[in-house]
Amino acid sequence: MDSFWTKSVTLPSFPAMKHDIRADVLIIGGGLTGLLCAYQLQRAGLDVVVVEANTIGSGVTGRTTAKITTQHGACYHIVAKRYGMHVARQYYEANREALEAYNAIEGDLDLKTCDGVLFSRTHREVLEIERNVLCAIGAKVEWTDAAELPFSVAGALRIPHQVQVHPLKLLNAVIPTLKIYEHTRVREIRGNIVTTDNGTTVTAESIIVATHFPFLNRHGAYFLKLYQHRAYALAVANTPPLERMYWEEKDNGLTFRQCGDHLLVVGGGHRTGKPGLGWKAAEQVVRHYYPDARITARFATQDCMSLDGIPYIGRYAKHSPQLYVATGFNGWGMTSSMTAALLLTGELIGKPKPWTSVFAPDRTIWHRQLATNVGETLKTMVTPTVPRCPHLGCALKWNAAERSWDCPCHGSRFSENGKLRNGPATGDLKKG
Ligand code: FES
Repeated sequence: MDSFWTKSVTLPSFPAMKHDIRADVLIIGGGLTGLLCAYQLQRAGLDVVVVEANTIGSGVTGRTTAKITTQHGACYHIVAKRYGMHVARQYYEANREALEAYNAIEGDLDLKTCDGVLFSRTHREVLEIERNVLCAIGAKVEWTDAAELPFSVAGALRIPHQVQVHPLKLLNAVIPTLKIYEHTRVREIRGNIVTTDNGTTVTAESIIVATHFPFLNRHGAYFLKLYQHRAYALAVANTPPLERMYWEEKDNGLTFRQCGDHLLVVGGGHRTGKPGLGWKAAEQVVRHYYPDARITARFATQDCMSLDGIPYIGRYAKHSPQLYVATGFNGWGMTSSMTAALLLTGELIGKPKPWTSVFAPDRTIWHRQLATNVGETLKTMVTPTVPRCPHLGCALKWNAAERSWDCPCHGSRFSENGKLRNGPATGDLKKG
């Protein structure tokens, strides 16, 4: 399903890699994370190469709603409870720097600065707790109304000076000076040498895996630390324009942002491979509250979810010092992609960010979500149905809304004909 964004922007194409090369840094993955890392590293003076298995921006980047914000749901009171107020403050600082870095990119990104509003339809007390933590860590926040929304709310918090962009225009703004190879899939990584599917090699001092879900199973146990999640977006015309961006405090809640004469509404999220309503949840909201609206596009997002709600950015694993990773953005990939770019650039030029340790991929895994992930994987592995997922062998489930085979274990997805749509699997379904 084409996203809303691809209708207005065409990205340039790049050749496949035809000969062996050397670079300071190789980035695997030409989505927003990989390209922002390349952009920041190149600005810092490093020689960087990006390889992409398909075409740049063809994965989750083209299916975001592109809200860039320091406020990732009602996240700070949860981080403070788990890790303390100091870590909550550092997490806020990282997000704030990421937001500032977007403002520094030159070019036509359709960038707009506006308020973000975190609202709850039922639980004002959650916002009260969140607000207390935000005030304690020095974040700007205040109570507001949400009179632009077509329903009443129990409470709403205004976070000023947030940002929204056109994600593909953003890519166009950062790629002009980058070395990019498309249709170049990585087959193997041995030390500092990476071999591609067509037999060419890249030798690099450092390698960043920016493939949404990390595809190397041997290191880092990402198949335990991550699961994937789908959410469904509608582009809607003929609605009263919204000045601010909105997102709901609860899991799988609604979000709203204006883009030109369209309203983007997201809802109906669920773990990839589990039953869900598809676009029906967002559609019901639109039909009920905007009876004159016209739905002009539908697209779905695929998000990697970490165990504790904080991304994994840093060393891929203890025993692979040259290898780095950026993943687990929990639905806030626009902000976290830039956080990853700033953090990894700081690491690789020897000027680490003060908040680097917050994102360390080797931090504790002992969270309730781990038991859920393990339980889901074990249950799905012993389910005796076909087809099976080529990643680690779980039973795939049919997603009727999107006509795809989806894996509940780690979120790989395949078309009706077995073509790979989303990793961590790296190939199509076997025939027969
Ligand atoms: Fe891991 Fe399917 S994605 S088994």
